[in-house]
Amino acid sequence: MNKTVEVLPDQPALVARALELILSKLETAIEQRGRFSIALSGGSTPKPLYEAIANQKLPWDKIHIFWGDERYVPPDHPDSNELMTRRAWLDRVDIPAANIHPVPTLSANPELAAAKYEQQLKEFFNSSGVEFPSLDVVLLGMGDDAHTASLFPHTEALKVRDRLVTVGNKDGNPRISFTYPFINAASSVIFLVAGANKRPALTQVFAPVADDFTYPSRLIRPQGELWWLLDAAAGLELQD
Ligand code: 6PG
Repeated sequence: MNKTVEVLPDQPALVARALELILSKLETAIEQRGRFSIALSGGSTPKPLYEAIANQKLPWDKIHIFWGDERYVPPDHPDSNELMTRRAWLDRVDIPAANIHPVPTLSANPELAAAKYEQQLKEFFNSSGVEFPSLDVVLLGMGDDAHTASLFPHTEALKVRDRLVTVGNKDGNPRISFTYPFINAASSVIFLVAGANKRPALTQVFAPVADDFTYPSRLIRPQGELWWLLDAAAGLELQD
């Protein structure tokens, strides 16, 4: 694992750095393989980044969008990560509808949604083997409880290692989430974390020894690149 930690002075600088990094990965992926696949996170931190990406002139027909997690709500629900992303970015660019791969949250139940999403990912990567397919980029946030995607502390989702997608649980509400082994199969994992409220969780995630099931972001140890992009409010004490 190749881990890089960058602390940026404020949120606008954080967004600018994240944009620069993602555009660089996008350019390389399209040059080498003709397409770029990225899984997005929800929450509030990435919204200005999505707005910034929408202002770029990019080969949208070569860019494929997934979500690393989704609330189990319809795509027009105010809590939907897909809805936030479409409003901030996807509705503002000329990206083919077929390149947007939302979580099927209108399925009969969360387990079926997770299975369907897994099947869609396997078909996209044409992967039937035992190896986990590799997204070019997985963008992650981190909660102040050190959860990431919808992998919450001390939940069953943290024990799922043989699938790409599982059912997470936040306070009894089902979520659809990539499993941590599937996240770890990505070429690059980029955490975007801002705000002083994240500092205690970051301290535990970066500690040499702590419990992975209590601080699930510790489980993210990709075989490829791991980037932590932090604003000063979140990461001042972590700077090397
Ligand atoms: C979600 C996200 C979640 C988020 C963290 C941080 O569905 O909410 O995927 O994992 O990244 O909760 O959220 P903030 O960026 O709002 O702090």
